[in-house]
Amino acid sequence: TATGLEQAIARAAETVDRQRRPVALGLVPTMGALHEGHESMVSAAREQNDVLVVSVFVNELQFNDAADFERYPRNLSSDIEILARAGADIVFAPDESEIYPEGRPLIQLGSGALGEKFEGASRPGHFDGMLAVVAKLLHLAMPPASLDIPVAYSAYFGQKDAQQLVLINRMVSDLNYPVEIRSVPITRSAQGLALSSRNQLLNDEQARAALVIHRALKLIKGRADRHEPLYLEDAVGLFEMEPLVELDYLELVDPRTLRELAFNCQDTPFTGEGLVLVAATVGEVRLIDNITLGY
Ligand code: PAJ
Repeated sequence: TATGLEQAIARAAETVDRQRRPVALGLVPTMGALHEGHESMVSAAREQNDVLVVSVFVNELQFNDAADFERYPRNLSSDIEILARAGADIVFAPDESEIYPEGRPLIQLGSGALGEKFEGASRPGHFDGMLAVVAKLLHLAMPPASLDIPVAYSAYFGQKDAQQLVLINRMVSDLNYPVEIRSVPITRSAQGLALSSRNQLLNDEQARAALVIHRALKLIKGRADRHEPLYLEDAVGLFEMEPLVELDYLELVDPRTLRELAFNCQDTPFTGEGLVLVAATVGEVRLIDNITLGY
């Protein structure tokens, strides 16, 4: 609640030397079913903030597929235990009516042309629905104006959802949100699968097959590191050898704008910075991953 937030900030203010710095408030939005990827975000945010808020809300508005929403794993009680152990000060787990008291919002944010590419192409409306809830969560965890305490406000998002992160950065700059967006690197399993709440929907054989995603990204990354031509089609070829995995897209883009880069199918050695985005479906489960080049 707003009072809970106010009290936590006021308590933190007593221990912070306010001549030297403002109270640091961090928000980590999640849809729950927490895994080590979320935990690494929470622990980064814990280290950097005096007050840490983690939200858990499965936002129906960003699911374009009702079955995907129904199937989405939910385990709030174990999430709360994980977050207590990780040192969250406040777990905000609102119900639907708290976030959308009037039902579907009348005034909506549009994610533009970028929202229709990559993930947006196969999930129409997904990014508009995501922005709708992130806009609200950023407001709800914002330091209350009535408090006479200077607060530095940050919100944390994972690089795993690279397109989401770019869109949130644009929303914050386009709409002048008084929040600093911080990105957190991808956490992977020991074998290289990017951790995702959806991974628990894979059987063993599917989980093994899904490792092709990381193999493909590493192949490209290795070539970029050696300044060789990328030959993305070789990475695409790896997917053809994995019948359980259906590749949706594999694209080289500008990391800041997600505009396609023209290194595809050229014999030119790779230089500069890039981001390879990939999405694939294993059974019913859609998986995404990415890797940055040139950093
Ligand atoms: P969710 O999928 O629960 O992810 C919450 C946050 O954890 C996101 O910022 C996501 O990028 C990050 N994350 C997930 N897996 C990760 C991994 N393996 N490594 C690093 N970070 C990871 O993304 C959402 O929820 C929602 O769209 C949300 C932003 C909460 C809005 O509803």
